[in-house]
Amino acid sequence: MVKKNCCVFISGKGTNLLALIRSSRSYNFPINIKLIISNRKNAKGILLAKKFSIPFKIINQKNKLNELEVINELKKNKISIICLAGYMNILPKKFIKGFNGKIINIHPSLLPKYKGLDTFSRVLKFKEKSTGCTVHYVNEKLDSGKIILKKKIFISSKDNKETLKKKVQKKEYIAFSEAIFKIYN
Ligand code: GRF
Repeated sequence: MVKKNCCVFISGKGTNLLALIRSSRSYNFPINIKLIISNRKNAKGILLAKKFSIPFKIINQKNKLNELEVINELKKNKISIICLAGYMNILPKKFIKGFNGKIINIHPSLLPKYKGLDTFSRVLKFKEKSTGCTVHYVNEKLDSGKIILKKKIFISSKDNKETLKKKVQKKEYIAFSEAIFKIYN
């Protein structure tokens, strides 16, 4: 099987990135991570890029020139799928159009519920019985692209923001890889 080249965009810890790196090391996983892009120079996830010797690039999205540079880098690496794994920035519309149907994101709620930030506090505030994560295609509207898959967890009365995040993230690590399998099968 010829694996597709993937680029992962991060801003933070990179625990989802780690899950993807682990999956991609298996011979039957459809992608190889060729490039990691971070918009924060101190993102912990960059340490993973170093540890696993994956090329990485730090970007500053406010800079137009830099955007062109990113596109060139993606083309140079023949990237056919972009995974947003905790990328805390809105991608420029032109960029999304250019990679239409090739960008996927993981979001910590059962979309279309709780789009945007701070999902765990809102889920608790509204006394939901369950929540989860969603892997979806990225379009020009925030957290609104076609859903690839969702995974659900149940909320107990003892849950708080931190326990909820832990439970949801555990599902995320499985969901992201499953979604990639689904795309290529
Ligand atoms: C994830 O929980 C994801 O749902 C959200 O950002 C978080 C990133 O965490 N989009 P990490 O950097 O992968 O640890």
